[in-house]
Amino acid sequence: MTVLAIETSCDETSVAVVSNGEVRANVVSSQIKLHSEYGGVVPELAAREHLRNLMPVARAAMQQANVTAEEIDAVAATQGPGLPTALLVGLKAAQAVAFALAKPFVGIHHHEAHLYSAWLAGRPPRAQFDSFQPNVSLIASGGHTMLVHVRQLLDHKLLGATLDDAAGECLDKVGKMLGLPYPAGPLIERLAASGNPSAFNFPRPMLDEPSDNFSFSGLKTAVRYFLRDHPEVAGAEQLMRDLCASVQAAVMEVLVTKTIRAAKRLGVGCITGSGGVLCNSNLRERLATAAAAEGLTVRLAEKAFCTDNAGMVGVLAELKLSRGAQPTDLDAEIAPSMAL
Ligand code: KG4
Ligand code: ZN
Repeated sequence: MTVLAIETSCDETSVAVVSNGEVRANVVSSQIKLHSEYGGVVPELAAREHLRNLMPVARAAMQQANVTAEEIDAVAATQGPGLPTALLVGLKAAQAVAFALAKPFVGIHHHEAHLYSAWLAGRPPRAQFDSFQPNVSLIASGGHTMLVHVRQLLDHKLLGATLDDAAGECLDKVGKMLGLPYPAGPLIERLAASGNPSAFNFPRPMLDEPSDNFSFSGLKTAVRYFLRDHPEVAGAEQLMRDLCASVQAAVMEVLVTKTIRAAKRLGVGCITGSGGVLCNSNLRERLATAAAAEGLTVRLAEKAFCTDNAGMVGVLAELKLSRGAQPTDLDAEIAPSMAL
């Protein structure tokens, strides 16, 4: 089966071609530069940019995969959650293509797609569902931080989520306070690499609470007050590096500790991770070390599949169709607050 998949839920326009578990093309056009100027994603601009980019990105994906329209067996798109006007562009385009080709359409939940991105590996990337294990999955992006119990393929339960800021959002806002451009996560990682993570002691919110929920706004506020009381830090290179390392340590310790704790409580033998924050090498190393100490297997999405991409959307759509899922109506609406 060959699936054409579209992702436009936020600020990446992406189109992929997936055949029998293999991601044959996964073209991503990022709008980071456009939104950077505004310090965050501007929904109306994102939608317009998706409209401009979708056709060239789709053409590039089909060319790379060497497929023609006649060879497409199904069309998929992210239906939610996401920015309403951004979702509309991809969903309506996918439904129109499905209608024109008289092929089934599948609307995909963005976070469900992230869940399975951890099982994509190799060159070319392939879904390795033969080695699937029940797991606890950490999804950490700019807008969401959540823990999910994946009992088997296509069977999952949300364990907890952030009550306020997401982990990536916290890093981005701290970066903004330090005068770093959006998104600040990658820059914080770079500065933190030569900083001392024990230099400043920031709170680890909800670390000792038994629930699987997260909260990062208090940490962000703690950094705000710290910078108010220590104005010398913002201009001093080494102190900035120490601050980034200390904030990164606080965020990552919470993510890792709560993921491992949930996995142990539920008795699963595996943890997985996905979403933009999983691009962070410090987080990846911490997860690997903590999991090894507990005898857990770790599957982390490859960095190219951590940030938003249509490859993961196509892989999930194909999995669903191959297991008998019904196609989504061609006039189904976007679902900006779709529950997992
Ligand atoms: O999944 P994603 O690309 O977009 C959504 O928000 O859906 O995630 C973007 C988030 C941003 O907050 C960004 O700062 C963060 O992921 N991020 C990182 C790194 N790369 C991206 N955070 C920490 N370290 C990184 N290397
Ligand atoms: Zn995402």
